[in-house]
Amino acid sequence: MNATTMKMSSSAIRDLKPSELPQIVMPRCEARPVLRGQTAIVTGASSGIGRAIAIAMGAAGANVVVNHVGSDEPALAAVDEVTNCGCPSRGQAIAVRADVSDESQVQAMFATARERFGAVDIVVNNAGLQQDAAIEDMTLAQWRKVLDVNLTGQFLCAREAIREWKRRGPRPEVSCAAGKLLCISSVHEVIPWAGHVNYAASKGGVMLMMKSIAQEVAPWRIRVNSICPGAIRTPINRDAWATDEAYADLMRLIPYKRIGEPDDVARLAVWLASDEADYVTGASLFVDGGMTLYPGFEAGG
Ligand code: BGC
Repeated sequence: MNATTMKMSSSAIRDLKPSELPQIVMPRCEARPVLRGQTAIVTGASSGIGRAIAIAMGAAGANVVVNHVGSDEPALAAVDEVTNCGCPSRGQAIAVRADVSDESQVQAMFATARERFGAVDIVVNNAGLQQDAAIEDMTLAQWRKVLDVNLTGQFLCAREAIREWKRRGPRPEVSCAAGKLLCISSVHEVIPWAGHVNYAASKGGVMLMMKSIAQEVAPWRIRVNSICPGAIRTPINRDAWATDEAYADLMRLIPYKRIGEPDDVARLAVWLASDEADYVTGASLFVDGGMTLYPGFEAGG
């Protein structure tokens, strides 16, 4: 491309209104086997972000435990997708049902992973849910359920993983680090969210739990990081994108002017779990199209 065509195309883009920009999304990446020989447990992997991460990690060469709590079919479909993705270095996959907020079920899941694949190298703390209500109407059961799954569930899986990684140390044949823990947090670890105090409190808790664990275990070459998604097209927030009106409203909160796709998060998860990110620990990485840039200030303040 010469300077003239560059100038023409950039001025053409400048003339477009944001709403006229094409909705270009990166295709699912050509997987490089950066996780070859490793085993990943992905919690809540039968749908949404967890499913995309499980598939992407499998394509990158990891053996994957697809954790789920509901019916078997969606989890088995995710397993099938890993097994048949066609990537030459793809790993194997199994579905394991376990409620992450239950200590003995978490321990049994790790035991199954070790029996089947020999070791666990990567844990993705993804299982999470919302039970929204105005503060005056929020029941103790709603508060507890969200904190139990989103925060205590992440603690139980983190503890189990770190026990194994401290005991075992690095496996240099597959990774520089003894283990990699990825906590799926949210933009709401920093953005307050009216009507969702249980959810925002759980994600604020994940932020300092993650950073405190990262500080504690770094000398054992264990890396601990969070991914903080913004609005990603999944069942959890269907109301925010399923109609044209809702989607237009949502775009007011997203400077990049498109909703996130589960693969946007999955690509970051594969990189963070790989040795390409070996010097990254204790970080909250936002994948949010700029939602945390205070878009309300675009024309104010
Ligand atoms: C929530 C979604 C929400 C997004 C942005 C996520 O953590 O689960 O429901 O759309 O944050 O507000």
